[in-house]
Amino acid sequence: MPIAFVSTVSADGVRNLAPFSFFTGISANPPVICFSPMIRASDASRKDTLRNIEAVKEFVVNVVSEEFAEKMNICSAEFPPEVDEFEMSGLTPIPSDLVKPPRVKESRINMECRLVQVVDVSAKPLGGPTYTHHRPLRHGASENRQVKP
Ligand SMILES: Cc1cc2nc3c(=O)[nH]c(=O)nc-3n(C[C@H](O)[C@H](O)[C@H](O)COP(=O)(O)O)c2cc1C
Repeated sequence: MPIAFVSTVSADGVRNLAPFSFFTGISANPPVICFSPMIRASDASRKDTLRNIEAVKEFVVNVVSEEFAEKMNICSAEFPPEVDEFEMSGLTPIPSDLVKPPRVKESRINMECRLVQVVDVSAKPLGGPTYTHHRPLRHGASENRQVKP
């Protein structure tokens, strides 16, 4: 199963990265995918990824390959919002073509996305996913290399 490694920026411009395995495509025309940044179990708050997307309306889904799975794992820790998770993980930000958040250079497939809709299923900690629906604007090519998700 591919993991969505989602890059966002806050309203103040702080870069954020986080992995999400609740991730799938839900429409081909128009192309729309969704993933689920759930309510935090620790304090019932919204994750930085969701807060950034609600503020900026844009993000990038970078598909994870096994070569940088350990760096991805670093980004699943609960860092405070002012921490730049590209710096924490050592992954490389490169400018996106169409959206404000950077892409992850190490990722072989990047989808630059604009927010379509946030569906609040539940406000309970882990009780219900908060789905973020979004329209991919650009599909990076895998160039026949193995993605190894
Ligand atoms: C492989 C993997 C898959 C994950 N999938 C999800 C997921 O689908 N939904 C979710 O809410 N958290 C998921 N997490 C946990 C988030 O990555 C974690 O809560 C992260 O700190 C959120 O970061 P943020 O607050 O910067 O958005 C996953 C973690 C890992 C390591």
